[in-house]
Formats: sequence, structure tokens, C-alpha cells
Amino acid sequence: MTGLLTPATPALLPVVGTPTELREALRGAESVGLVPTMGYLHAGHAALIERARRENSVVVVSIFVNPLQFGLGEDLARYPRDLERDRALARSAGADLIFHPEVGTMYPAGFSSSVGVGAVANALEGAARPGHFGGVATVVMKLLNMVGTGGRVADRAYFGEKDWQQLTVVRRMVRDLSHPTQVVGVPIVRAASGLALSSRNVYLTADQLTRAAVLSRALRAVQASFAAGERKVPALLEAGQEVLKGESEVKLDYLRLVDGGLEPLGTLPPLDTPAMSDSEQPRHTRNLHTVPMGGVSQSEAAQSEAAQSAEATQFRVLIAATLSGVRLIDNMPLLADPPGDSGL
Ligand code: PAJ
Repeated sequence: MTGLLTPATPALLPVVGTPTELREALRGAESVGLVPTMGYLHAGHAALIERARRENSVVVVSIFVNPLQFGLGEDLARYPRDLERDRALARSAGADLIFHPEVGTMYPAGFSSSVGVGAVANALEGAARPGHFGGVATVVMKLLNMVGTGGRVADRAYFGEKDWQQLTVVRRMVRDLSHPTQVVGVPIVRAASGLALSSRNVYLTADQLTRAAVLSRALRAVQASFAAGERKVPALLEAGQEVLKGESEVKLDYLRLVDGGLEPLGTLPPLDTPAMSDSEQPRHTRNLHTVPMGGVSQSEAAQSEAAQSAEATQFRVLIAATLSGVRLIDNMPLLADPPGDSGL
């Protein structure tokens, strides 16, 4: 039996705001999955919640617009917020509880400690947004510690591949600091146009949303060039840049090929086939009712570990651009045999 939670998800998802309420609500939970978010949920967040639902007996979604990860002049004040809408979406995706703390609960007066993650946080998004990943790492570490019960922390935490560098930073932090929570990466959810879903897409007009889809088309062009056998980095990037030329309103910040440690790739091995990422692993089509409520089995945990180490050796193409002041990011793996071209 859990604390405040009833076995079936109630009509209105409970919302708690303090670590004490959280611990009480999670009392007796067999396993806890955490999905950290900043709210204004969409189908990308829902994919994380659904995955967590399949693998844990209790699923907690945290909603916290974290001031620490916003730079001066960024959109902290106008970041979209709608708790009631989020409550409904989280519930239908299978969450049991929302953790929605106040800023003062997360950062009480005198708060002065932080988590530093080193070089992996400094390039790419970290270069464009100084201090951003320090803020992400600090809040994620706090959430991983807070969401648990009876001296235990969350068993698993779910992050989207959409924010590839964030996923890398969190994995590195958890590994380096020996945190027991297992980090699970979930593939990107896209609109029909190919545009990666994001809460910030709400800042764009319908016309701009159409234009923004050029990012995913550019990534696909790089993928296609790689699949066709191109191994010269400048030529691969050129394939993406060609596509971007078609949308002059989209201002490119970077288009980069990186390895698993986010190091820029100078050259690619000629005949190498990158390892499969967990997005390319056969999908688990498990029936909710056949999964032991204690969580995933040993062999699944081993598979997931294998997927994670495969991920560390694979190559990715990462892109960032701005469109009318809105920062857009996306990424795709380089696969010798990419998934069928859906015409995006
Ligand atoms: P937020 O932007 O709300 O995203 C929450 C999680 O949803 C992240 O792990 C993100 O990668 C994932 N996500 C967003 N869009 C996605 C998509 N289209 N497909 C798959 N996953 C997607 O990322 C943050 O919040 C914050 O930095 C946070 C980790 C909560 C720390 O404050």
C-alpha cells in the first residue's frame, strides 16, 4: 500500500508541493519512476510518462520551472505554465502524482551549493547558455534525492533524447557522483512535419512552426548522406547546410557531428557502423498487466545498460538555431541504415 495514493489513478491527479508530502505519498511504493519537467506538457513528455508507467509501480511527474537554469534575458518570466492542463495530460499518460514545489522550497534562503559537471556542459548549448547545465544538474540532483521514500531515492528517472546534451550531462553526473537512480533516455517525439515537440514551440506562429521543421530536414539530409556512404565530416555537414539555405529566417547556431562524449568529430572511420542507440533497439511491447509491479526484470536492466554503453560510442548530429528569437534544438543518430524516409 502506498501513502496518499490509491491503486487506481484518481480522477484528479494529486499535486504535492513539499518533500514531506512526497515521502508520505510514496510510502510503501515498490518502485518509483520520476519524470522531471518544467510543465506545459505535450506528447514528448507523455512518452516519458508512458515509459515510466510500464517500468515502475508509482510514477511521479515533477513540474518546476527552474530559475537556476535560465540566463539573464531568457524567458523565465514568460515560460508557459498551465497546471490544470498538465494535470490532465499527466494523468492520461499514466502518472500517479505531481510534485510541484515552490521556488522557496527548492531554493530556501541561504541556498548556496551546486553541482558542476565539467567539460560536457560547456560546449554546444552550454556555450550559448552559460551556467545553464549547472542549473539543470543542480535541480536534477535535488529532484533525484527528493523523490523517494523511506530513505530510498527514485529507482529510475526519464529524460528525452530531444535534449541530447542534457541527457549526456545527467548521465555523467549520476555516474560520476555514484547516484543510485537509473537514468533512462526516451526517443524524440515529433510533429508530422518532423519538428521536435517542445513547450517553447508555443512562442511560434503557424507559419514559423512550418519553417522550424527545416531543422529536422537538415538532420535527415546528414543522416541520408551518411547512410549513402559519405564519411567526410565537412561533406556530411554540407548536406545539412544545403537544406538550411532554403529557410533564411532560421539562423543557424551550430550543426555538429559529435561522439558519445559530445566531442566534435573530425573524421569518421570509413566502414564503421555505429552501434545502435536505445531508440533503435527493438521496442518493448510489454503488456502493462504482465509487468511485475516491482519494476523491470534483470534482463531488461542488462539490456538497458547495454543500450547505454552503445549510446556512448555512437555518433550524433546536433543542431541549434533561432527563429524570431526562439532557440530551437534537435538531433539524430548517424545510422548506416536509417529508419525509412518518411518524406520529412
Ligand atoms: P522540459 O523542457 O519540460 O523537458 C522535460 C523532459 O521532457 C526532458 O527530459 C526533455 O528532454 C523531454 N522532452 C521534451 N520534448 C521532448 C520530445 N519532443 N520528445 C521526447 N522528449 C522530450 O528539460 C527540462 O524540462 C528541464 O531541463 C529539466 C530536466 C526538467 C530540469 O529542470
